[in-house]
Amino acid sequence: MTKVAILGMGTVGEGVYTAIKRSAARGSDLELKYALDVRDFPGAEFEKLVVHDFSIIEQDDEVRIVAETIGGVRAAYEFTRRALAAGKSVVTSNKELVATHGAELLRLAGENGVNYMFEAAVGGGIPLIRPICQCLHANVISEICGILNGTTNFILDRMISGGVPFDRALAEAQALGYAELDPTDDIEGKDALRKICILASIAFGRHIYPEFAQAEGISGITSEDVAAAASCGYAIKLLGRYVLTDDRHCCVYVAPHLVGSGDIVAHTNGVFNCVRVRGDIAGDVAFYGRGAGGLATASAVVADLEDCVRFGGKTKHPSLWEDGDADCLSSTDRLVTRWFVRADRLPDTTSNGETVFGDIQKIGDGVFITKPMRSDAFKSALGVFSGEAQVFSAIRILPE
Ligand code: HSE
Repeated sequence: MTKVAILGMGTVGEGVYTAIKRSAARGSDLELKYALDVRDFPGAEFEKLVVHDFSIIEQDDEVRIVAETIGGVRAAYEFTRRALAAGKSVVTSNKELVATHGAELLRLAGENGVNYMFEAAVGGGIPLIRPICQCLHANVISEICGILNGTTNFILDRMISGGVPFDRALAEAQALGYAELDPTDDIEGKDALRKICILASIAFGRHIYPEFAQAEGISGITSEDVAAAASCGYAIKLLGRYVLTDDRHCCVYVAPHLVGSGDIVAHTNGVFNCVRVRGDIAGDVAFYGRGAGGLATASAVVADLEDCVRFGGKTKHPSLWEDGDADCLSSTDRLVTRWFVRADRLPDTTSNGETVFGDIQKIGDGVFITKPMRSDAFKSALGVFSGEAQVFSAIRILPE
């Protein structure tokens, strides 16, 4: 049997415990030896496996794999480094740690002949990392785009379909175990940014650090925006997006977008995530499923654990990506999209029949859509328009 330790018995850690038990009942080789947490769990099935000191796990040569489900970059970072240095593979659901220190931890795993695997860090239970790394390996990936945060999608969906106010929808998401400990990371797009940065790092081959990219969340989205978007056939979704530019840089960001009703992403509701990947050979490929929740995430963690057993002492991803820097990234200013604007009036038309935005498509009172424009050109036109009108919202429209 391959002895495993779980670090952190929160929602995901407990899910991993259950999933290991189920896979062991089906004859897998995994056996849980320790469950590390600062708390005791009197009465829990795994009570006798609980330890509080990581050194016990570190020094136990029987433990071959560690499942890190602590989250954050403090204890999780230290324990991951120590486990890898001690020759143990590490499997994680911790997107913050992978997005912040992934390049270093992958290198450390390679140096020690073990694996650092993180299928669960992006998209919860959706197979994403493996398909991108393996099945789409022959492709140059020019774009990745999708819903990467279950909590905000759940909130938007409850607001749109259930008429539930924002605070209540957030409380529901927290009660279901979807939200981060600090839900502002969900609401302000930071969680989705970490995930798109991980996918971007795989596609680009260099580490894309979240601090060099921009995130805009959903706190500015109102029910008036949602209704106005719906009136012209769009759903508002919080999307993470990676675009490979013509000069081989990449543009990575998170922001609300209007998504056309013909797009699978527009029909992704509740806690579900949906990610579209565009390869030069395969074309568009989409991945859909539960993006958060203990058991869904545990499904991906246990798949990685089983892969570690299968790969024994061999490193599965010896050089998934190299370190990167701010120079890898291109500004979102150069991206070309149409924009949806909601204001207290429409822009004036000049003698040549155009507005400060050029041609626009009028939707209704103060609501219009621009032609495709570079973001920097749009922002300067919006600056001019804001001098003569009250602008309530300006949201990108996802290109088809
Ligand atoms: N808070 C995250 C979400 C959990 O809602 O998607 C899964 O990463």
